[in-house]
Amino acid sequence: MNEIDTRVPRLEPTEGQLAVAQAIADGHVRSADRIETVPARVYTDPDQYLREKGAIFDRLPQVLSVSALLPEPGMAVPHDDTGRQLLITRDAEGEIHLFLNVCKHRGTRLIEGNAVKCGKRLVCPYHAWTYKLEASCMPFPDLTLFRAWTNLISVSSSYPVAKQAA
Ligand code: FES
Repeated sequence: MNEIDTRVPRLEPTEGQLAVAQAIADGHVRSADRIETVPARVYTDPDQYLREKGAIFDRLPQVLSVSALLPEPGMAVPHDDTGRQLLITRDAEGEIHLFLNVCKHRGTRLIEGNAVKCGKRLVCPYHAWTYKLEASCMPFPDLTLFRAWTNLISVSSSYPVAKQAA
């Protein structure tokens, strides 16, 4: 049997840390006019938050989850941290999908909470419109009731996803 080395490598100070330590030891002091401060409003201003959110989260790809959160086909989990009501699903073929956690009928949230749910379909809790886990709406039992909306529901609200191995 092979032995595994579990020792943690010894950490060494960086060049920068050594330079700071040496400057302190040499008695160097920074003058107050070189200290930069950040105004407190930067952390509390709603307009600042919206500007930063728009500049980062609304423009660039985001890492939402590790795929291990949905290890099996037929799993779904809501994700609200981007400010949008999203739903991550793994379909029967194991593919990951991302779409709005919103029913196309009247906008009801399809899955409440933030826990992982299992099932072959998503059923809206309001009027029971049913969706496959790749976000397409299932046919209605009686299409004559919803004939006017059949074009509407064929459009998917899905977002592109990419899986990256770590
Ligand atoms: S709001 Fe979802 S089925 Fe009506």
